[in-house]
Amino acid sequence: MKKIELYEVGPRDGFQMVDEYIPLETKARIVEGLLDAGLRHLQITSFVSPKAIPQMRDAGDLAAKVVSKYPDADLFALVPNLRGAEAAWESGLRAVSYVVSLSESHNRANIKRTHEESFAGLQAILESYPEMDVCLDLSTTFGCPFEGMKSEDEVVPFLKPYVDSGIRTVNLCDTIGIANPAQVRRIIEAVRAAYPVLDLQVHIHDTRNMGMVNTLAAIELGVDKVQSTLGGLGGCPFAPGASGNLATEDLAFMLSEMGYELGVDIPKMIKLAKYQASAIPTGQFSGHQFRIPDTN
Ligand code: COA
Ligand code: ZN
Repeated sequence: MKKIELYEVGPRDGFQMVDEYIPLETKARIVEGLLDAGLRHLQITSFVSPKAIPQMRDAGDLAAKVVSKYPDADLFALVPNLRGAEAAWESGLRAVSYVVSLSESHNRANIKRTHEESFAGLQAILESYPEMDVCLDLSTTFGCPFEGMKSEDEVVPFLKPYVDSGIRTVNLCDTIGIANPAQVRRIIEAVRAAYPVLDLQVHIHDTRNMGMVNTLAAIELGVDKVQSTLGGLGGCPFAPGASGNLATEDLAFMLSEMGYELGVDIPKMIKLAKYQASAIPTGQFSGHQFRIPDTN
């Protein structure tokens, strides 16, 4: 049976868009609920400046609550700099997503760094934490709110120094949900041809209802690690117009109907998405509404 690994990033990409503080207990309940529903790859938080994203100020506390409890789960966090990686390591996490934007304008808006500074930041992490599993999250791979559409002509050369410095996992992120399936195919094929050594993931927002087809385009090219968020929450506070993610329960439903093995309990996930919708009012979100199939 064909297997797809679902990477749930709601507790980071979803929660970061909620203005009102979500109590630590609620966050932990959702994280534990996701693990209980069978998800094994989970981005639980981000170690970022609390001034940039106040919602994530409890990153260390959340990690302390769950990391030692689930030693077999692949728990990871987003980090923008060495300081974040240090905090992640100290909290017991051994895997991080290092975020850099293909668009320098978005990189500056999001993490206040030039491309050069971001690259130097990664080198510092690799040197300080050689045992840390570091995935490169390439934001705005497909398009940027400030610079417009992107293509393989920019993506491929951009990745070269990262691959040369040892990065082996790259997550191609459609931060503003602007991609189309033909472009997804072109970029994945070009990146694969240039760097066969890379393990690719996709993280595709559903801003224009194309999250599913774009993710499927990647899957049909053999990408077997895909990111999504429970309830479709998500966005980037520093990318105007960026809204909801692809909903994990919708993606899981489609893939299981297609015969993929996912190892998740979909009814449990839907129940959890409903709990999340009640615990975190949808009015708090800038973009998407919940799209939860009705089940009894
Ligand atoms: N975790 C916690 N605090 C951090 C931090 C981290 N990883 N990195 C920096 N800080 C703190 C600094 O200690 C400093 O605090 P102080 O003002 O109390 O002294 C403050 O944040 C500013 O530090 P500085 O290094 O000057 O950062 P900056 O203002 O240039 O901002 C980032 C750069 C990367 C820290 C910030 O823009 C950020 O956290 N961005 C994350 C954006 C994000 O999460 N976007 C969505 C996900 S893609
Ligand atoms: Zn995202």
